[in-house]
Amino acid sequence: MSRIRIPQPPPSEITPEAVWQSRRRWLRQAAAIGLAAGSAPAVLAGSIPDPSLPALTGKPNGRFSVMDKPNAWDDITGYNNFYEFGTDKEDPRRHAGRMVTEPWTVEVGGEVVKPRTFDIDELRKLAPMEERIYRLRCVEAWSMVIPWVGYPLSALLKQVEPTGNARYVTFETALQPENMPGVNRRIIDWPYVEGLRMDEAMHPLTLLVFGVYGKLLPNQNGAPMRVAVPWKYGFKSAKSVVRIRLVEEQPVSSWMQSAPSEYGFYANVNPDVRHPRWSQATERRIGDSLFAPRVKTQMFNGYGELVASMYDGMDLARDF
Ligand code: MTE
Repeated sequence: MSRIRIPQPPPSEITPEAVWQSRRRWLRQAAAIGLAAGSAPAVLAGSIPDPSLPALTGKPNGRFSVMDKPNAWDDITGYNNFYEFGTDKEDPRRHAGRMVTEPWTVEVGGEVVKPRTFDIDELRKLAPMEERIYRLRCVEAWSMVIPWVGYPLSALLKQVEPTGNARYVTFETALQPENMPGVNRRIIDWPYVEGLRMDEAMHPLTLLVFGVYGKLLPNQNGAPMRVAVPWKYGFKSAKSVVRIRLVEEQPVSSWMQSAPSEYGFYANVNPDVRHPRWSQATERRIGDSLFAPRVKTQMFNGYGELVASMYDGMDLARDF
C-alpha cells in the first residue's frame, strides 16, 4: 500500500481562522434568533436549518475548508441526486423520509486483518467530528458548497487493518425496494456501488459524513453515513453506505457498468475532458440567480495542490 503524503493546501484554499470564526458566530446568532423568535427570516427563507432538527456538530477544520459561502440549507437538502428515490431533483426530499435508518450497521471486510460490522452509533464515536466546507461538483455541470460534518475515512479503514492486497475500496449503498420508489426503474443495476483507489480512500480529504450544517444528515443527503470526495464528480460520493470492502482488483462501479463510455472509474473533476454529451469547462452554482454567469470549473475541483500528485504519470483523458 502506498504511503500517504499529507500535502499543504494552497493559501487560496485556506479559510483564515478569523474569517471562519466570524462565519460560525454569524450562523450561531442566526440560529439563536430563529429559536427565540421562531420565525427568523433566514430560517423562513430556508437558508439555515430549522433549529429543532437533531444537532451534530464538529470542530471547524479551516485547513481543509474552502472560502466559498455555503449554499442555503434549502438548496443542499432540496436539490439532490439520490436515484433510489427518483430522478427529479426534488424526489429525494419528497420520498427519502421512507428510508429506514435505524437500526443501521456497516459491514467492513474483504482484504483486511480484522473484518467487522459496526453499528452506526459506534461509527459516530469512532473519531472526532470535524466540520469542513467542501465544494461538490456534479457531473451534470452544477455545483454547491456544503458544510459537512464527519471525519476522514482513513480513521475507519485503519481500524480493520488493510492487508497488503488491498488496492481498492468499494462502497455498497442501502437497498430498500419497499421504501425506494426509484429502484423500480433499472437506471442502474441496484444497489448503487462506487469505489476508490486505496490512496484516494486514505487521503485526508476523503470524508465519512454523518451530518451537514451542524445537523444530523437528512435522509435525502445520504443518512446515516455517506462519503464525500470533493475533487471528484459527485457520483463518486456514495450515500447511505451499508458495506465497505477492500479488494485487489479495480471494481466496476454502477455508473461504469451502465454507461462505460460516459463514466470512468476515476471521475476526477476535469474541465478539459468533456463528457461525451456536454462540456465540463463550466458549471452552474445552485442558488445563483438565473442571470449570474456560469463559473469556470477548476481542475480537481480546485483541490489540485492536495491531490494532483496521486495521478502523476497518468493520462487523465484516458483514465477519466
Ligand atoms: N448515492 C446513492 N446511493 N445514490 C445516488 O443516486 N447520487 C450521487 C451521489 N451519491 C447518488 C449517490 C450523485 S450523482 C451526486 S451529485 C451526489 O450523491 C449528490 O449528493 P447531494 O444530493 O447530497 O448533494
